[in-house]
Amino acid sequence: MKYNFHKNKLFQSFAKVSKGNFRRSLSFRIHQLFQKLNKYPNDIVIETASVCNLNCTICRSVKADLGRKNRFMSADLFKKIIDDIAPICNTIGVSYCGEPLLNKDIFKMIHYATKRGLSVSMLTNGILLNAEAREGILDSGLNFMAVSMDGATKHTYESIRIGASFETLVENIRLFVKERKNRRLSYPSIDLQMVVTQKNIHEVDAFEKLARDLGVERAYLKSLHIDRSREDVDYVESLEKDYFVNSTSLPSRYITNEQGNLELKDKRLCPQKLQTPVITTDGDVLPCCFDIFGEHVLGNVTNQRFLDSWNSDKYIDFRGDLAMHRKLPMCASCLPSNYKIINKILF
Ligand SMILES: C[S@@+](CC[C@H](N)C(=O)[O-])C[C@H]1O[C@@H](n2cnc3c(N)ncnc32)[C@H](O)[C@@H]1O
Ligand code: SF4
Ligand code: SF4
Repeated sequence: MKYNFHKNKLFQSFAKVSKGNFRRSLSFRIHQLFQKLNKYPNDIVIETASVCNLNCTICRSVKADLGRKNRFMSADLFKKIIDDIAPICNTIGVSYCGEPLLNKDIFKMIHYATKRGLSVSMLTNGILLNAEAREGILDSGLNFMAVSMDGATKHTYESIRIGASFETLVENIRLFVKERKNRRLSYPSIDLQMVVTQKNIHEVDAFEKLARDLGVERAYLKSLHIDRSREDVDYVESLEKDYFVNSTSLPSRYITNEQGNLELKDKRLCPQKLQTPVITTDGDVLPCCFDIFGEHVLGNVTNQRFLDSWNSDKYIDFRGDLAMHRKLPMCASCLPSNYKIINKILF
């Protein structure tokens, strides 16, 4: 009798899990269909912090005033957004122009989103991944974490990631992997990424080895992006002369043309098809992650539902013409990170 009781319980919980999985997979497929029809976005980036603890040489976000009123998104606004988008979206990211671990509410924000069934990813510089942050992340249900590491030695890494400590980062990742294992968790899966430049190209093999030693799930190389949407000659010149690597075997957004100028490798229609909008710390809805200065605000979710913005005439016009046909200054140098020629997976 006792045995039967347990068996029954076991069956009930199995049935519950299967039912849950079935529902999730059905909702995922319905979302995919709506995404294909342009009714819903593929995924949404939510900027939880627009300031940073570092000042990386290649990063545009920290070199200029981004014009945001709030440096951090409030937990209330984040929850409102999640309530709004959970029925229409499967995945979100919580990083954009700053460092998400600077937001004091980041763990409860992620937890709120994962509880609502969203798959959440976070891109971080990893310097603030101390014991408290590691515990907060492991408790939050975060699904994916990518850590930026633009070098495999102290000298190279710290000369690009100004204000960071190589030893701190390595130790933080090592401990995170260990603590995740102690808790027998398989998530968040951890990626290490490196933007390949003249400054670190000689460390690609060492970077791969270090990533394997640290026990992360994946390591990959990313291509440099040179934003030309603003008059900022020093920044562009420095990236072109001192950082850009002209190589066919490494990921790159650009090629050098016959006149010696950098040119986009692929200039077809908007590669993201405007399917990955961004919501800033102020609640502004932006068309894609290349609009870091918020020049094309298509709505604001503090006083509007996300779908009202997405379905507004302004957004529909934007999708249909300007952006899709690459008519904006920011489109001139854009190929988004998920585009196949600009990442190289090492393992
Ligand atoms: C702006 S950061 C925000 C998240 C976090 N602070 C970090 O560093 O991971 C997002 C990513 O952009 C990358 N990045 C910054 N400047 C870049 C550039 N000029 N070209 C390509 N990637 C860049 C960083 O290496 C990082 O992986
Ligand atoms: S840590 Fe990230 S946001 Fe901060 S300066 Fe570096 S790349 Fe930019
Ligand atoms: S910058 Fe232009 S081409 Fe690139 S994703 Fe945004 S809208 Fe599309």
